[in-house]
Order: sequence, then structure tokens, then C-alpha cells
Amino acid sequence: MEQLHKVCTMGNCGCDICFGFNGNIPTIKFQMKIGSISENQKFEKRIAVTPDIVKKYISLGFEIVLSENYGSHLGIKDKEYLDLGVKFKKNEDEILQSSDLIIQLGILSDNKISLIKDNQTLIGVLNPYENEEKLKNLKERKVNLFSLELLPRITRAQSMDILSSQANLAGYKAVIESFANFEKAIPMMMTAAGTIPAAKVLVVGAGVAGLQAVATAKRMGAIVFGTDVRMASKEQVESLGGKFLTVEGSENLETEGGYAKEASEDFKKKQEELLADTLKKIDIVVCTALIPGKKAPLIIKDHMISNMQPGSVIYDLAAVQGGNTAFTEADKIVEKNGVKIMGESNILNKLPISASNLYAKNVFNFIENLYDRDQKKININLEDEIISKTLIK
Ligand code: NAI
Repeated sequence: MEQLHKVCTMGNCGCDICFGFNGNIPTIKFQMKIGSISENQKFEKRIAVTPDIVKKYISLGFEIVLSENYGSHLGIKDKEYLDLGVKFKKNEDEILQSSDLIIQLGILSDNKISLIKDNQTLIGVLNPYENEEKLKNLKERKVNLFSLELLPRITRAQSMDILSSQANLAGYKAVIESFANFEKAIPMMMTAAGTIPAAKVLVVGAGVAGLQAVATAKRMGAIVFGTDVRMASKEQVESLGGKFLTVEGSENLETEGGYAKEASEDFKKKQEELLADTLKKIDIVVCTALIPGKKAPLIIKDHMISNMQPGSVIYDLAAVQGGNTAFTEADKIVEKNGVKIMGESNILNKLPISASNLYAKNVFNFIENLYDRDQKKININLEDEIISKTLIK
């Protein structure tokens, strides 16, 4: 809210009215307020405002208000923020009621949401398909809602692309976690006592997370294979040192927007044959296959897992969307014939500092594009694809 001190006659006391005092006439400086409150840390350890990004908001002219102990679970003390000019409030409700822009990770609880009113703006990963009812109430109250997972994958939006920045980290961490659960060494080692062979890794789905998984596994000395329904990914897997497994005779299942189309029955049958044979020799599988807006495709079936070697590990990043294997369960390790199948609902909670740093930068870049510096307010310009596609209408 544009809030002014009620009384100011001095013109140089440093309040909002005289902030822009030029020696003669006090000029009024409006400051938009950005607020963010602690997430429910049982599910979400990331934060939307990091100390690094505070400096950028303040230099753009924003005021920042956070709830107490906002980053303390990540080792960031309130004092670090205070020294940068952030204000703290004990009462989270007050932050939500008084901020022009509220930036979070996920959607807020029902209680908190009821506090947001007309003309306030909420930015985060609002997941409009799952939170339809909550968002409907907010829309009725004329709250501006921006959901960042809806960003178009265009060049200008790359610096704001939360799906890419977070999936990159997820792909990396999935490899690290699966390797930690694999009870053999990863790189080939030649010792006087004999040679240890390099582990064989298969990455199913070579999008953002998958390509980072290929690169990470390769760097750690594994022999890496990748597969995908989009032909463009063949070159990308190969450029990272992986071997691409092509489903013979298959068409390229890529949409104009660069995403995957649902595979035909013929494709699925051929893919099943190829993978059933390959998996017998694979030690670790990282699953990332996804078709946007759909349940994850079931790719690794019961009979394929039965034929894998005991001790093998499958790490399924698509667990939240139902998983790419027959047995995936979110946040559990399921064992079948000695094969560990791991599914994680939010792997980013395992590297929340790196994930927060990237997320906070993505959000800042989004707000910078939304903010009109001259008018000192946000400008919902629906001719800008970035704004119109993320705005929940
Ligand atoms: P993306 O859309 O960039 O990549 C998915 C890839 O799967 C695409 O290349 C697509 O062509 C491929 N694909 C679709 N159907 C296939 C099939 N039948 N066979 C082989 N490949 C197929 O998605 P992104 O950003 O890489 O995310 C991958 C997965 O990781 C998603 O399920 C996402 O929700 C999940 N994820 C999970 C996180 C977690 O914490 N659990 C965090 C970040 C991402």
C-alpha cells in the first residue's frame, strides 16, 4: 500500500514523505511493499527472498518486510537481512494485509489466504489446476495472481524460468541421491586388487532435469545412456557424453512448443522392448519423463524391474505425477527383487539454499519486468506474453 507518514513538516527527517527532499521542496516518495512469510517447513524449505536479492529490490525502490526467523532454518540470520534494510514483523497476518506484492513458494493456507484483498498481488507456484477453489476466491476478491510455472518457455523469460532452474538442481540431486543409495562404486577403478567396472546409468526423459542428470552422472564417471520421445534430445544427450537409445522406427513426438506429445501404443510397445532388454545391464535409472498437464507415463513396468540386477537403484523424479515406474511412491523407498525404487515429492528440500538462490532471482527478474519504475507501481500489461500467460484469469 502506498503509505505516508501522517505528519511531516521538516522535509528532512527521512520519513516516506521527505525521503526525496531535494533541499527546497519535500517530494513525496511512494514505496511499494514486498512481503513474504515463512513457508510450512515440513513441506517447503525454500525461501522466496534471499539476502542477495534484497539489495536488488531495494535498489529498485521496494520496501521489504519478512516474518521473523524467515531464513534461520537455512542459516540466514534476521540480522543479515536487517543490515540490508529489511523490516521484520512478528505478526505474519499484518505482513499479508499490508504488502502490495506477496511472494511465496507454494500457495498459502486457507487462513492466510483469507487476509489478502483487492489489488494486492500474489506471486508464487500457485498450481492453478490443483488449487482451483482457493484461487477462485482470491480472483473474486480482485487479487492479482501470478503463477510462475505457467511462464512461456521463450528466450526473454529464461531468467525467470523457475521450472528450468529448479529442475536443473533436481536432476543433479537425483543422481547424487541415487548414487548414495547404490552400494557399489560409480567410476571405473583399476587397482592392484582388480578392476571395478564403471556403473551404468540410464536417464529416462531428457528434458531439463534429465539432461542435468546425464551431465552429472557422466562427470562422476558413470557410463550414461539417455532416452526420450523427442528427437532433438538425441543430440543434447550425445553432446553431454551420453549414448542415446532410439526407439527404432518411431516418429518424433515433439510439440511446436518443445514439449512431448503422448506416445502412441506402437511407440510404447517398441520402447518397452528396448528398455526391457537394456535395463538388465543398467545399475541406476533416473526417471524424469513427463508430459505437461498429464499423469506421468508408466515406462518401467513390473517385469522390467524383475529382470534388473539386485542392488540396482531407480530414482523417480516424476513421483508427484504418479511416477514413471509401476511401484513408485512419493517419499518412500520401495524394494522389489532387491531393486530400490525411490520417489521424492520435493527433492529441492535437499538443497534448499541453492534452490532458493535461483528461485529468488527468477522471481526478482519477473517482478522487474512487471514493475513500472516511473509510475512506481506494477503494470499488468496483457500484451506482454510473460505477464498474460502467468496471470491467472
Ligand atoms: P521436461 O518437460 O523438461 O522433461 C520431461 C522429458 O520427458 C521431456 O524431454 C519429454 O520429452 C520426456 N518424455 C515424455 N514422455 C516420455 C516417454 N514416454 N519416454 C521418454 N521420455 C519422455 O521436465 P523437467 O523440468 O525436466 O522435469 C522432469 C520431471 O521432474 C517432472 O516430472 C517434474 O515434475 C519433476 N521434478 C520433480 C522435482 C521433485 O522435487 N520431485 C523437482 C523438479 C522437477
